[in-house]
Amino acid sequence: MFASLVRPLSRKSSYVPVARFSTSFTVRNNATKESKSYNTILVETRGKVGLITLNRKKELNALSSELFHEVNDALETYDSDSEIGAIVITGSEKAFAAGADIKEMRDKTFAEVYKTNFLGHWGRINDIKKPTIAAVNGYALGGGCELAMSCDIIYAGDGAIFGQPEIKLGVIPGAGGTQRLTRAVGKSKAMEYALSGRPFTAQEAEKWGLVSKIFPKDQLLGEAIKLAEEIAGFSQPAIQACKEAVNSAYELSLKEGMHFERRLFQALFALNDKKEGMNAFVEKRAPKWTNT
Ligand code: CAA
Repeated sequence: MFASLVRPLSRKSSYVPVARFSTSFTVRNNATKESKSYNTILVETRGKVGLITLNRKKELNALSSELFHEVNDALETYDSDSEIGAIVITGSEKAFAAGADIKEMRDKTFAEVYKTNFLGHWGRINDIKKPTIAAVNGYALGGGCELAMSCDIIYAGDGAIFGQPEIKLGVIPGAGGTQRLTRAVGKSKAMEYALSGRPFTAQEAEKWGLVSKIFPKDQLLGEAIKLAEEIAGFSQPAIQACKEAVNSAYELSLKEGMHFERRLFQALFALNDKKEGMNAFVEKRAPKWTNT
């Protein structure tokens, strides 16, 4: 359905259709203009939306270090592309991601993971300024659940299964599971699911507010992209400020957060897009955003 809109990550190179299910392909980085290829993810640009598909199908998209470095690289490339307004991360029908790569971790020692700050680079998604949407079908376990929760919005397929099963491996969540799940669903549920390692369903996740909406699995990606396109159609600096303001609710007291929000609101009056948006409303026409 979207095949005609699929093109490589680079905005500068001429249009070249990309096979949807190739395991790797070459992209051009706008900043460096160097060719590079990904082994564990697919990247596609659909209009103003960057789509990252985790692509270690056989391993249920286990999040190896290589995969996460590639996700970071694609996220940062899209984030610095002025023509991209939102980013969708998805996996396969069976698994969004079944967690950090246990085979990669099993021989690692404390000294090694401590000295190298193992998983530290997973936090780079927190610095992405553009909105990110996780489209979750199948398993989102351990680091997979944490990656989904690192996104700004989670849409789930009706058969998605979430969970933080790390306790069953003799460890605990290591990429935000104990923190983000607790903030999203409250202490009792976070304790229950992190301490038992039990999975929970898309329907439960939606009821608790972790997931924003549920769709039939074959409609999930289309719906996530539709939302991303809608978001990408607004003024980029206003969207960036909105994301920053919502995220500040996690960090600040209500009083500080309200103050920060008001200051950002006032600052947006300096934008041409504020003038354009309000003029367009009064003149009963669609606004033409310039992102300035
Ligand atoms: N790491 C590495 N390999 C994994 C994996 C993982 N997290 N999850 C699945 N795989 C591999 C399996 O080993 C298997 O490989 P082989 O074909 O070579 O045997 C392949 O993917 C398919 O998996 P299964 O045969 O197990 O598939 P299934 O349908 O029977 O079960 C599952 C699916 C319930 C998701 C099961 O694979 C599972 O429990 N996976 C592990 C889930 C988990 O514990 N995640 C947490 C990881 S730790 C973590 O994420 C730490 C953190 O906080 C960052």
